[in-house]
Amino acid sequence: SPLSKRARAMLEDFQASLEQGISKIGVLNDEEIHQAELERVFGRNWNFLAHESEIPNKNDYVLRSIGDDTFIVNRGSDGEIRVLLDVCPHRGASICRAAKGSSSHFQCPYHGWTFKNNGDLVGTPSFKDAYSGLDRKEWGLTQAPRVEIFHGFVFATLDENCPDLKESLAGMGWYLDMIFSLQDEGMEVLGEPQRFIIKANWKIAAENFSGDDYHLMTLHKSTYDIGVMQIPLRENMKGYHIQAGNGHGISFSIDLESKDPLFFYYPEEIVKTFNLENLSEKQLELARGSRVCVGNIFPNISFLMLPLSPDPKNVPPTPLFTWRVWQPKGKDEIEVWNWFMMYKNTSEEFKRASYRAAMASFGIAGTFELDDAIPWETITRNAKGTFAKKNMKLNLQMGMEGMGTAKQVMEWPFPGIAYYPRYEEGNQRHLYRHYLKEMLSEE
Ligand code: FES
Ligand code: FE
Repeated sequence: SPLSKRARAMLEDFQASLEQGISKIGVLNDEEIHQAELERVFGRNWNFLAHESEIPNKNDYVLRSIGDDTFIVNRGSDGEIRVLLDVCPHRGASICRAAKGSSSHFQCPYHGWTFKNNGDLVGTPSFKDAYSGLDRKEWGLTQAPRVEIFHGFVFATLDENCPDLKESLAGMGWYLDMIFSLQDEGMEVLGEPQRFIIKANWKIAAENFSGDDYHLMTLHKSTYDIGVMQIPLRENMKGYHIQAGNGHGISFSIDLESKDPLFFYYPEEIVKTFNLENLSEKQLELARGSRVCVGNIFPNISFLMLPLSPDPKNVPPTPLFTWRVWQPKGKDEIEVWNWFMMYKNTSEEFKRASYRAAMASFGIAGTFELDDAIPWETITRNAKGTFAKKNMKLNLQMGMEGMGTAKQVMEWPFPGIAYYPRYEEGNQRHLYRHYLKEMLSEE
């Protein structure tokens, strides 16, 4: 549906100021904007639903959503992964009542229509009396228009005409390839994804992960003071911000002086399991120098790999990988879906250590996670104020011409546009530039 006049005016006002590094708080808590986002952002782009390792066996399934639509993501009895809309074509009831499980069939609780896990309608109670003459082939479950699997990560889009996932990922695909192909076996999910509600708008979280390293020095300072994070916070600002195209942003903390390969501080026995031949020379160069990597895949998929200690006096920092979706639950609320993952071919002991480090820092009650929720919620609350909505401009100028030390890296050998050091908000502007393009496009 077309944008309302009011929503269009708000977005155009934001677009007009963005190149001066000014963003508008009003878009962070607005019902009309939220409704338009469901169609124009989440409805048109690729959404992450599940990792293959969550449904390893035939008939396994998990229940996931895109915006307000719920899908059964399953591995059929034939081994194929499908994404089926969890809406019964009889009267529209939800069919699947568990968050995960294993089943060859799904039966709707209302009148008992029964579907095979490939979506086919195979059972209609009292068929002869009620439906003789019905062509059951036409009344199966609806599938997501397109599904693609990237290094085991299952994505779907609701838009038939969306470019392929690889094309949509633009430069980001290259960086993700680097991370996920370090080991031949790739990654797997550890435990269950955590889910929790934050009373915040999804864009604030996406902005944060796309390139806000600056907040560590204040908001997360205590994690350095007690030894959870052991890379000095100013030192950690050395590295790159990369605008990876289509609104995607990624950021690396790099130690340029280090003679030894860093590989995110994976211990030697893990580095030995890496197959470095999977990487191009350039990818290898970047991985060797990296200590922290954080990013956001447009619109709302974020990830982070870094070494942290769960118990600074007794346990050294252990690399962890968190992959999360900021699932919008309204204009002012997200359900965070938080997966911890690790390279598959590592010892159980190492996986446990990584999981423990992840839980203690980026779990629901983790040292980092708790910090971020508070300012994100206050921003969202402030964005509702009648006066603030109308008058507040926000500063998104860090690293622009004449602001601070960040400079564009002119001969950047990798994809995207890069800046060094990380005192810079170009990734956030890149995110919003793409966001506004999507929101204002009538196609
Ligand atoms: Fe599902 Fe009637 S609504 S069988
Ligand atoms: Fe944070």
